[in-house]
Amino acid sequence: MSKAHPFKRNLLQADMRAARAQTLQLFADVDDTTFCQQIHPDFSPVGWHLGHIAFTEALWILEHCAGQPMLAPDYRRLFTADGLSKVERQNLPPKGWILNYLETVRSRVLDYLNIAPLTEQARLWYWLLQHESQHNETISFLLHLHQGQSNVQEELELADPDHDRIKIPASYFVMGSDRLEAQDNERPPREVWVETFTIDRYPVTCAQYQAFIDAGGYQKSDYWSAAGWTWRSQQHITQPLYWQRPEHRKHHPVYGVSHYEAAAYAQWAGKRLPTEVEWEKAACWKPGCPKTIPYPWGKQRPAPQHCNYSHHIGYTTPVNAYPQGQSPSGCWDMLGNVWEWTASDFRGYDGFAAYPYRGYSAAYFDGQHRVMRGGSWATRQWGLRGSFRNWYHPWVREIFVGFRCAL
Ligand code: AVJ
Ligand code: FE
Repeated sequence: MSKAHPFKRNLLQADMRAARAQTLQLFADVDDTTFCQQIHPDFSPVGWHLGHIAFTEALWILEHCAGQPMLAPDYRRLFTADGLSKVERQNLPPKGWILNYLETVRSRVLDYLNIAPLTEQARLWYWLLQHESQHNETISFLLHLHQGQSNVQEELELADPDHDRIKIPASYFVMGSDRLEAQDNERPPREVWVETFTIDRYPVTCAQYQAFIDAGGYQKSDYWSAAGWTWRSQQHITQPLYWQRPEHRKHHPVYGVSHYEAAAYAQWAGKRLPTEVEWEKAACWKPGCPKTIPYPWGKQRPAPQHCNYSHHIGYTTPVNAYPQGQSPSGCWDMLGNVWEWTASDFRGYDGFAAYPYRGYSAAYFDGQHRVMRGGSWATRQWGLRGSFRNWYHPWVREIFVGFRCAL
């Protein structure tokens, strides 16, 4: 047994248990139909995600690390990421079976964790926690799709946000991270020169977005990229997915928009989307300090006073609800609430090395995916940080994603 990091082992055990409790919580009210049903052609049923979480844990920890034979090998093809098509994934074993599979894998994994050589393996375990977290987020937006536009939330009583722009002066900035939890696509950190730019203090709100709709933003091709206009026309898009008239949510961020819609709004507003390095600098650059901070508020791990994440609230919040979460530059709401589209294509940083497998990130370095930053109200703590990168095709809008503008 490695005695090097006994304290970290305890932390990891606690994190594993907390992540699993959160996963199971998502399924508390999920009936069998919802469990197996594919709600959208681009995504698997929520029940598949649950089985895939267990499978991935069995594959990496039990098979690769512990050298144990695969549990339920007949289900390998179903639950692996590159086995069946998403339509075929509706043919699932019952919820009870999957829950039992999850539990069986987990109890073996926790047994192994008592003796695992964490000095070598810590990075893999933290990757695994984030794997479960990311599937939690997918499950969350799929359940949101299942529910339709039901719950109207009361707006918190807050002063109106002052939609000003923040000037970030030119400087070198260290983007990326080599902390233990950093994914392959965040590494290696590197110093880059960033020219002066301005960025909005807040993400674009529903009230602001309503003005774009009212101004005929969806009818005028001038605001749209060629690909965006084609997409908008073919899909007959006239408003964000999940959109409700914003009476009660004026100052909540707009979400459920594609990259095309975000870019069109920015064009209409005479602005643009920030690049990902600009976004990260606005979030985590401390003027005069050569080291980039991991979170806009500093070094503390995320807590409910910093931002809206991990279902603590269960919906979006006004963009000015978290004064304690603002960045040193004065940007609010950078983490949590809604993801934010950036102008950047998803690419590997110089010196990129795939981990733990090529298909995790590198398979998407194809110029067809755009980076989104910051996490949402459903993002778990393990994937919430300034350097974290998420990516999707520019037409995807099912995610809890909005944007903020830069210039
Ligand atoms: C980074 C969120 C796009 O869900 O497809 C999960 C994360 N990778 N399992 C996804 C992921 C492998 C990925 N996203
Ligand atoms: Fe996965």
